[in-house]
Amino acid sequence: MQKVLILDFGGQYNQLIARRVRECHVYCEVHPAAKADPEWIRGFDPIGIILTGGPNSVYGEAAPRLSQNIYEMGIPMLGICYGCQLMAHQLGGVVSHGADTREYGRTLTQLDTEDVLFESFTADSITWMSHGDYISQVPAGFRITAHTSACPTAAMACPEKGFYGVQFHPEVSHTDRGSRMLRNFLYQVCGAQGDWIMEDYIQVAVRELREKIGDQKVLLALSGGVDSSVAAALLARAVGNQLTCIFVDHGLLRKDEGDQVEAVFSKMNLNFIRIDAHEQFFTQLAGLTDPEEKRKAIGEAFIRVFESEAKKLGQTDFFAQGTIYPDIIESGRGDAAVIKSHHNVGGLPDHVEFREILEPLQLLFKDEVRDLGRAMGLPESLVNRQPFPGPGLAIRIIGEVTPEKVATLQEADDIFRSELEAAHMNKLVGQYFAVLTNARSVGVMGDHRTYDYTLALRAVTTDDFMTAKWARIPYELLDKISGEIINKVPGINRIVYDITSKPPATIEWE
Ligand code: XMP
Repeated sequence: MQKVLILDFGGQYNQLIARRVRECHVYCEVHPAAKADPEWIRGFDPIGIILTGGPNSVYGEAAPRLSQNIYEMGIPMLGICYGCQLMAHQLGGVVSHGADTREYGRTLTQLDTEDVLFESFTADSITWMSHGDYISQVPAGFRITAHTSACPTAAMACPEKGFYGVQFHPEVSHTDRGSRMLRNFLYQVCGAQGDWIMEDYIQVAVRELREKIGDQKVLLALSGGVDSSVAAALLARAVGNQLTCIFVDHGLLRKDEGDQVEAVFSKMNLNFIRIDAHEQFFTQLAGLTDPEEKRKAIGEAFIRVFESEAKKLGQTDFFAQGTIYPDIIESGRGDAAVIKSHHNVGGLPDHVEFREILEPLQLLFKDEVRDLGRAMGLPESLVNRQPFPGPGLAIRIIGEVTPEKVATLQEADDIFRSELEAAHMNKLVGQYFAVLTNARSVGVMGDHRTYDYTLALRAVTTDDFMTAKWARIPYELLDKISGEIINKVPGINRIVYDITSKPPATIEWE
């Protein structure tokens, strides 16, 4: 398998570069630049090297460098941002600092469309810049292949050596056709053949997990969400019944969800334990109406159930979780915490001591995790599951949570989601669910007065769940859904559609 080496200089987008390379079906690994010496690189045997961006200036005292010999190895290289400046600096060019040449954000850039990186591009393109220093003189043998009004060297190339550099970030989506630039480097310069597929990721991950785990035991808290399910499937493939999955069913899942999770995992070669803890959770929730108190009660109940089960099993070797790369970025990972709080099952016990934590998905993005799940044969209904909050339906029931209200909401939510899916709207909408509001109102059904609950339907489009727009679902479809819920779900006599975006609202109601 052909390999690309990504040398990490500490930039924010480094895993995004790796992801783009994988999207081109080329295997890659990200390694700290400091570890790269020629001998190690020779052992790695890459078809190309990508130097990432980073926060330093090449003139800074702590500025990371590359051993000069690496440039003599005959391996094609692409420098991005700091990586480009370092290449220029170490190969005899000049990097300068000037107040007028700083660029941040979307920048109109003139590309030399004769250059292999920009072949078939339009000369005026938008790139994403984020730099203070700039290259004022390219090294001997290089030519400038892009510039902006502020920056004389937005890209440079030395095709004879296969050396390319871009001051901007081709890996971020704001750069027009940035992925194509990376693809051109990989295929046209490095001679990539696109011989990597997700199946290969599975093989590598399985091998590494086996080496690490040996004959020891692994405990995983399974929430039924995509990430922990895919992590479980991967670990099951690696170590089979050395893995125990604890699925705490808090009774606050969507309709039939607990059974679906059980159906998938009880077929696998692993120890699957479903704990029906709904009574404990409902007891904890009784009388609570404040959203934060509800969340806290659920978190605590979860910890108690999980802990007592873990204690019963007496397994403290490895604890596995389905952390994915965006979780690590969002929670600004520190080394101190034993277990991240940013977890879908909502606050795992910090003080249950495990020898080591395994996070086999920690370098993948959400859609890659879905692809991995598919490649391992998990059903589409599980792989495509939309985000579901750890506290479950408890935060979609405004006011006190009771088993009756949960049952009502499960039915209504199931109709809403099934109808959207039948109309293929689910592909367009990022998250969609029903909320049982605490508002009751007067209605009339079959000549009788009713005084029942109002159900709110919520559907949003979003890229990252940080901001969201309410989804423009056709009126006809809303009409159909409204009629069906009212007819089929007792206790609801009025339906509203939530037309607030985030901000000012949040996606969930609590
Ligand atoms: P909000 O409501 O903050 O939601 O706009 C953003 C995204 O986060 C999900 N969410 C949660 N996920 N535990 C989770 O694992 C939680 O406590 C939680 N609260 C909200 C929400 O469903 C949406 O996708």
